[in-house]
Amino acid sequence: VSRSFIVAANWKMNKGPIESVEFLSEFFSLFTKWPKCEIVIFPPAIDLVSVARMIEEKPLRWGAQNCHFEDNGAFTGENSPKVIAELGADYTLVGHSERRKIFGEIDEMLAKKIVAVQRHNMIPMLCVGEELSERESGKTNLVITEQLKKGLSQANLETKIVLAYEPVWAIGTGKVATPEQAEDAHAVLRKMLIEIGGESLSERTPILYGGSVKPENAAELSKKPNIDGFLVGGAALAPASYAGIIKNSQLAF
Ligand code: 13P
Repeated sequence: VSRSFIVAANWKMNKGPIESVEFLSEFFSLFTKWPKCEIVIFPPAIDLVSVARMIEEKPLRWGAQNCHFEDNGAFTGENSPKVIAELGADYTLVGHSERRKIFGEIDEMLAKKIVAVQRHNMIPMLCVGEELSERESGKTNLVITEQLKKGLSQANLETKIVLAYEPVWAIGTGKVATPEQAEDAHAVLRKMLIEIGGESLSERTPILYGGSVKPENAAELSKKPNIDGFLVGGAALAPASYAGIIKNSQLAF
């Protein structure tokens, strides 16, 4: 399989421009040899200019945690996908569970955001995941495949898309999905990708796991055939633990 392994950091609403730059210089110093996987940082939007400058020379990618679906206009407090792309972002996260739950983002809106991200030649990283109650009532596969279908309903399926499976009950709880639970969900998503866009889309689309990933559980998870990387929250706030996740994932390569 030709899918790249991606270890992404979602800093959520943590770190300012100065802390971001401090993180990066410490993080870079932790590698004597640059890892073979793809590394992506999602800082808060207000840090993107500083991060872009700092990353210019490094083989590291970055993106925004969210964007609006229009390029400009009367949308107080929002960030334009056009501007994010102009700063040099490679990626934008779409549909993180916190955006869905706390900010009321619905699938129809997320489908438009995917279009907007692609319009500016960035890679959308679409997040899907079930709540604990949905898992307990046996609805996991239904919930995540619906989120996937609706999210990609208007997308260009010829260019790169990345998915992140993040079970809501595992986010920030310290309760990680077992490698089997994650692998099962990823396999379901990969099958749905065939239905949506054929074998090629399914084969080439990386599916990342997110939810309480740490250096201690990264190795086991990364061995699963359908787990193509991680989207890390809390454990990516400190350079050493983020680097630890990357190094432990490498063991499986
Ligand atoms: P944690 O790694 O803190 O559980 O967060 C996961 C996440 O939401 C990444 O987007």
